[in-house]
Amino acid sequence: MDLIHRPRRLRKTKAIRSLVRQTKLNKEDLIYPIFVVEGEGIKEEIPSMPGNFHLSIDKLLEEIKEIVDLGILGIILFGIPDEKDEIGSTAWTEDGIIQRACRKIKDKYPELLIITDVCLCQYTSHGHCGTLEEGCLLNDPTIENLAKVAISHAQAGADMVAPSDMMDGRVRAIREGLDQHGYDDITIISYSAKYASAFYGPFRDAAHSAPHEGDRKSYQMDPANSDEALREIQLDIEEGADIIMVKPALSYLDIIRRAKDNFVLPIAAYNVSGEYAMVKAAAEKGWINEQEVVLESLLSMKRAGAEIIITYWAKDVAKWIS
Ligand code: PBG
Repeated sequence: MDLIHRPRRLRKTKAIRSLVRQTKLNKEDLIYPIFVVEGEGIKEEIPSMPGNFHLSIDKLLEEIKEIVDLGILGIILFGIPDEKDEIGSTAWTEDGIIQRACRKIKDKYPELLIITDVCLCQYTSHGHCGTLEEGCLLNDPTIENLAKVAISHAQAGADMVAPSDMMDGRVRAIREGLDQHGYDDITIISYSAKYASAFYGPFRDAAHSAPHEGDRKSYQMDPANSDEALREIQLDIEEGADIIMVKPALSYLDIIRRAKDNFVLPIAAYNVSGEYAMVKAAAEKGWINEQEVVLESLLSMKRAGAEIIITYWAKDVAKWIS
């Protein structure tokens, strides 16, 4: 055959393939999510998220040693408090679950990057991400409270705060609150394009944060929309976000790519609980190869344009690629 172009030449050997490879997964890209609970001596596996645990603060420190030893640079903390109320006020108390966890971690592992999820759904008695009035989520009172949460996390030693509530104006409220309290060096990694997704199911079980009534469709985004994601991202950037996030990741790779093409901030992809649970379940049945599927999926997030990947597989991936 008289073929001039033979793309297979560049795939001929392992060395050539490595040489021309455009995207690479590094353990420095990974952020590991952790669920912190009240109590002592608790390390309980989350049934729908095998390999992930509810950890009390003492056990958390053991887990963190493992994470640091693996070379993972950062974690994102989710608190599961014992006490909840109508507005979620235990989210910003000085001795709250996250605040205590941050202090303990910073004390022992000052180099580890601590990101805290800033939301109220784990802390409200009704499970919505803010203050409710007659079934409606009130935007402006909620963002004032979110700013209090962020400030209290910064006071406790968090390096970055990650608002995940999808209220309007929360990034600005948080930036102003942090700056007024002398935390102008604390980074905001904003869940900018967060969709109302069925892929959060296992997380909500794990975090006891499912809304008791209704859903989150009046604040999280419609999965049908893409332009709206760009608008949300643009607003977050204008309000002071340092890093933007797209969530979930796998069904929203197009959003990551559009964000990459339109903005110059670092992008994080959140490889969410449902994405994790699906692969785990199929792998358990022997239907897919977990390691290969995970590495391919995370690579696709980077290829789409993400620099940072939040994933429940962070520890496994760090082992697999080292
Ligand atoms: C809190 C929050 C959620 C997730 C991260 N932060 C749940 C939700 O919005 O209902 C989901 C993460 C995951 O599914 O892994 N608002």
